Amino acid sequence: MPENAIVVEDLRKSYGDVVALDGVSFEIKQGEVVSILGPNGAGKTTTVEILEGYLKGWSGKVDVLGDDPLQGGVKHRERIGIVLQESGVEPYMTVTEILEQRSRWYREPLDIKNVIEEVGLTEKSDALIKTLSGGQRRRLDVALAVVGNPELIFLDEPTTGFDPSARRHSWELVKALSKSGKTILLTTHYMDEAQALSDRVIVMAKGQIVAEGSPSEIGGRQESDATVTFTLSDLTHLDKAPVKYEISGNKVSFKSSDSVRDLHALTGWALDHKIDLAGLEVKRPTLEDVYIHLTEGGK
Ligand SMILES: Nc1ncnc2c1ncn2[C@@H]1O[C@H](COP(=O)(O)OP(=O)(O)O)[C@@H](O)[C@H]1O
Ligand SMILES: [Mg+2]
Repeated sequence: MPENAIVVEDLRKSYGDVVALDGVSFEIKQGEVVSILGPNGAGKTTTVEILEGYLKGWSGKVDVLGDDPLQGGVKHRERIGIVLQESGVEPYMTVTEILEQRSRWYREPLDIKNVIEEVGLTEKSDALIKTLSGGQRRRLDVALAVVGNPELIFLDEPTTGFDPSARRHSWELVKALSKSGKTILLTTHYMDEAQALSDRVIVMAKGQIVAEGSPSEIGGRQESDATVTFTLSDLTHLDKAPVKYEISGNKVSFKSSDSVRDLHALTGWALDHKIDLAGLEVKRPTLEDVYIHLTEGGK
């Protein structure tokens, strides 16, 4: 079995004049959980729909479980589970009925009761689909995606629109799937979701990959630029300040790649000269800031 579940090279796709994917390349290893993180319109759905074999008219190289997704037959499709961004299932069937129907498509389906339990729908197993809440519907989508016991699962924005507890529940589900050895590619526009679930995060914006790495590597960019601010009543004190600073009104700020060292120098200087560093603050960009910077600030 090849080491990579997915290989994408220089993938390009346009809708008329709209360039949805502008040269995207990445690899996903067997057993990995990878998030494609990006704002609306970044090209996330286009990417997964190409990998799923739903979209034609693209260029580049795409290999999914050793097959071209457009050529892959029944055997290929049985190895893949899909949760679409928008799904539609029979409203007048029960949870158990739809899963029974769907499992007949596969040669080695999982036990339906277990699947229902795993997604937390046991109490709803005989309920009509139309009576399920949004979160429960999404969990049914996941159940439908995994009932065929696929090796690779695509989840397109699995928790968009969820309340916090429903999101947590879905996260547990994804973690359980990952533990059972599945390769998972999910898309999200939530930084915390990508961080909580993935071995690796691919950040996309405007059809391109703008960053890629483990959640801590992507967040780790923040270490390099903490912002230190304080207020001075008399700016002439700054003449001998031990750091390079910017001034806005009475507010002094500087960016620091080593805030412990710089704060040591700054506070030492202030003590020596009896200067009050009013409102002294050290701020690190949140992961959200890093993400916004990556996706809006270009590369
Ligand atoms: N069927 C379509 N027809 C025209 N433009 C589309 C279509 N689907 C997506 N697009 C455009 O392609 C770009 C990427 O969309 P999409 O892959 O859905 O992004 P995301 O899933 O990250 O929100 C967007 O600019 C979007 O408007
Ligand atoms: Mg999308």
